[in-house]
Amino acid sequence: MITYEFRLPNDINSFRRSVGWYELSERQLRCALERSVLAITALDGDIEIGSARVVGDGGYQFFISDVIVRPEYQGRGIGKEMLTRLMDKALSVADEGETIMVNLMSAKDKEPFYEKLGFMRRPNDERGCGMTKFLKK
Ligand SMILES: CC(C)(COP(=O)(O)OP(=O)(O)OC[C@H]1O[C@@H](n2cnc3c(N)ncnc32)[C@H](O)[C@@H]1OP(=O)(O)O)[C@@H](O)C(=O)NCCC(=O)NCCS
Repeated sequence: MITYEFRLPNDINSFRRSVGWYELSERQLRCALERSVLAITALDGDIEIGSARVVGDGGYQFFISDVIVRPEYQGRGIGKEMLTRLMDKALSVADEGETIMVNLMSAKDKEPFYEKLGFMRRPNDERGCGMTKFLKK
């Protein structure tokens, strides 16, 4: 049975490796642990099979990051379930009448996955595009 827990996975880098992403340094992992405002881990028994986290101010701005389902578990609705639960949790702390803003940067060709969860592509008629800059030291 697949279960979900609101926490980071024990080994973020093993998730990143499983989908071919570069690893985070020890310092970056500590920051993720200490400063992510929300996180979710999907489990098959006691095996961690998916994870996603949210950084932000916990009030208005929520940025979804590091959404990963291990390749052998993809296509079973786990990614959708993780993000649905994360967004429900983010909204649950809002007061009645408040709006929260949830942003993300889609990996290439993953846009349809996020559109099914209600995200809009940018730019569009009303909004400019999201922008990114990577800085390497
Ligand atoms: C992207 C990812 C998180 C999706 O997780 P998943 O568990 O495989 O996706 P789900 O099974 O929950 O899919 C939910 C819906 O999105 C659709 N979908 C998922 N990935 C898709 C894609 N690349 N293109 C089109 N549709 C997609 C599914 O068909 C499903 O549609 P349905 O609800 O109509 O049945 C997963 O493929 C992954 O970890 N990829 C590698 C890492 C990555 O790129 N992460 C995203 C970073 S921005």
